[in-house]
Amino acid sequence: MLPIIRWGATALVVVFGVLWAVIWVGRNEGESSGAFLSRILGASVNTETESSVGIQLPPGVTIGGPFSLTDHTGKAVTDATYRGKWMLVFFGFTYCPDVCPTELQKVAAVLEMLGDRASQIAPILISIDPERDTPEAMANYVQIFDDRLIGLTGTPEQIAEVARAYRVYYAKIQPSGDTPYLMDHSSYLYLMGPDGRVQAVFPYAATAEDIAAGVAARMARQ
Ligand code: NI
Repeated sequence: MLPIIRWGATALVVVFGVLWAVIWVGRNEGESSGAFLSRILGASVNTETESSVGIQLPPGVTIGGPFSLTDHTGKAVTDATYRGKWMLVFFGFTYCPDVCPTELQKVAAVLEMLGDRASQIAPILISIDPERDTPEAMANYVQIFDDRLIGLTGTPEQIAEVARAYRVYYAKIQPSGDTPYLMDHSSYLYLMGPDGRVQAVFPYAATAEDIAAGVAARMARQ
């Protein structure tokens, strides 16, 4: 056998072995392998059944935690500042050319769709570009989308800490020439419950309707 075929075959065996193990360990009692697979792969968007809205986290995986940041009015805040409210958290930066504006428009649409229930939500943008995103820059930026939107920034260390807690990836991209740098970043939207614990994670592909339905379902369950 050519080495590449041998390695390919080995890789396939490993992949199927792992898949089988995941199905075996992860499915609920009485659940068929097919149902389990569609449950974990159907990650985002069935708005009918709340259990399938948002990405299902594997058991034991936690997201979120304590943070210490500065809001767009210059006030020092922590995660405890928003305890008792639902937090809809997105990580991004004010120079973002497309992903962040799109997602924040979506968040604004979600707040509209939720009507009065939106008063129980703290919609939050956390900057992963603390070098340029001062509280003033955040204030100018968040008001473009919705006056309820809260912009949080901090020192590079504070941002690294909160990004680690939420498992957010970010990295500076320096284009050639005089163009300002960009930040590459993961783009999930996190729904945290009034107790500060993660309730749902929405991928960028989720629509405002999907997210509003997912949030409403989880609020109704509390
Ligand atoms: Ni962005």
